[in-house]
Amino acid sequence: MSVMTSCTAAAFAGALLAGVCMAQTTPVDAGYSIIPRPSSLTAQAGEFTLTANTAIHAAPAFRAVAHRFARDIADPLGADLAVTTSSSTGTATQRGIHLRQRASLPAEGYQLDVTPARIVIHASTPAGAFYALETVKQLLPPAIYRKAPLPGTRWTVPTVTIEDTPRFGWRGAHLDVARHFMPKEFVRKYIDLLARHKFNRFHWHLTDDQGWRIAIQKYPLLTEVASCRDGTLVGPYVTDPARQVFDGKRHCGFYTQDDVREIVAYARERMITVVPEIEMPGHVQAAITAYPYLAARTDTMPGVLKLWGVSPFILTPSDSAVQFMQDVLREVLTLFPSPWIHVGGDEAPKDQWKASPAIQARIRSVGVKDEHEMQSWFIRQMDTFLTAQGRRLIGWDEILEGGLAENATVMSWRGTTGGIAAARSGHDVVMAPNSHTYFDYYQSRDRANEPLAIGGFLPIDTVYAFEPVPAELTSDQAKHILGAQAQLWTEYIPTPRHAEYMAYPRLTALSEVLWTSKQRRDFADFSRRLPAHLLRLDALDVNYRPPR
Ligand code: ACM
Repeated sequence: MSVMTSCTAAAFAGALLAGVCMAQTTPVDAGYSIIPRPSSLTAQAGEFTLTANTAIHAAPAFRAVAHRFARDIADPLGADLAVTTSSSTGTATQRGIHLRQRASLPAEGYQLDVTPARIVIHASTPAGAFYALETVKQLLPPAIYRKAPLPGTRWTVPTVTIEDTPRFGWRGAHLDVARHFMPKEFVRKYIDLLARHKFNRFHWHLTDDQGWRIAIQKYPLLTEVASCRDGTLVGPYVTDPARQVFDGKRHCGFYTQDDVREIVAYARERMITVVPEIEMPGHVQAAITAYPYLAARTDTMPGVLKLWGVSPFILTPSDSAVQFMQDVLREVLTLFPSPWIHVGGDEAPKDQWKASPAIQARIRSVGVKDEHEMQSWFIRQMDTFLTAQGRRLIGWDEILEGGLAENATVMSWRGTTGGIAAARSGHDVVMAPNSHTYFDYYQSRDRANEPLAIGGFLPIDTVYAFEPVPAELTSDQAKHILGAQAQLWTEYIPTPRHAEYMAYPRLTALSEVLWTSKQRRDFADFSRRLPAHLLRLDALDVNYRPPR
């Protein structure tokens, strides 16, 4: 905070001249407050000034990115910047912003040179150019994130040279819209904020015991029946039914297929792949309420779950259940171009399979040893199906139990053990350990002053300290660690504002874990940059938890 007192707020927020605040900040990056921290940053004296007359000269491959940037800043600037197509050869001599293609740069990486006359960006891919322009926004005053011009704002960018490239290819965040439905405006905002932090995966948890949230044309009851529950548990989770209190309010919501197409396109414009999750064979109580023939146990019909926790009601591993889920995935594939399709696989208790003579006969007839192998068999049916369609199955680490499907990627949530085992056996891994990435956990030990949460404790410095590549792995095995992601389970997160409170600023810390090289990660330096970044989140109307 000493930095804040020695610089004016506007200067501190990014429009400063190099040197003005530098004396108080070591190392030098803190004055620029770019999050996630770039690979290298060389400060220079001087500034570039953006005006309504600044033109963007974009290589043909970067025209769409240039237009997106111009649209994004048109409201605060009060002007639509002109975009022209330029060849990428020769030296940039015109004033303005130049987006040039250079094939030798790493995918998603960029080089940014700001001089008083021009901003020159080099990148090999549109993603790299996009991230360079996100960095440019962070170099501008935070008013660049507002929706209308503020009088008297000077749109200056400090002169600087930045070279930047991400550490990991999977920089993700998940959002559970099953426990509490989140309106699509919020889903867009969530994606937008991810892009501003250079994340590139949005894991959309669309189905669970408490609600099915995606329209599937072949099975209309999934939305007519399974998208609503009759009430929601009030207060902390208690197992004793006599002590459970429900609010008695119906909780409903789903996305039409056009809503999904819109979200996917919105994310794609921001370089984010949307990875859908359709849970199986557990966490399906909503689906089996709509289609009881899918249930392992049919003599009781509990309904769409109003409670949290792990439900004993799971799918039957029948051919018709396989068919049903493949039908669902067939429609999912038409909506989501993602190479990865998530099939859940977590927390599927096998008691109902053990107790059912018909399912025991099924286990024998498909020739597997036990219930765990039966689940593996089921997941393999999805793996074969997805692989034949040119996609890749991803699932929670329980898919290791009973044998991992041939082409599966593992999402390691029960710590990193599952991820280590998967990487050792040559499978790709996304790290999502509850110890460091469950953002539904409390942010403070002082629970009385926090909103009710599911439990746990995950402060921002623990997030920042997360190392996605376990030391146990050899360098060849470590190549299977694609990256990591945050989880935002919404049992105790009923509204978008609350979701923002849990997500930020922890996602800000995770962005640096995933983007910045290990050597350049420094919590003290991050903490010096964070106050300036929070001014950006203020302008974006993000209800982050204020650091205290
Ligand atoms: C999980 O938290 N059940 C993946």
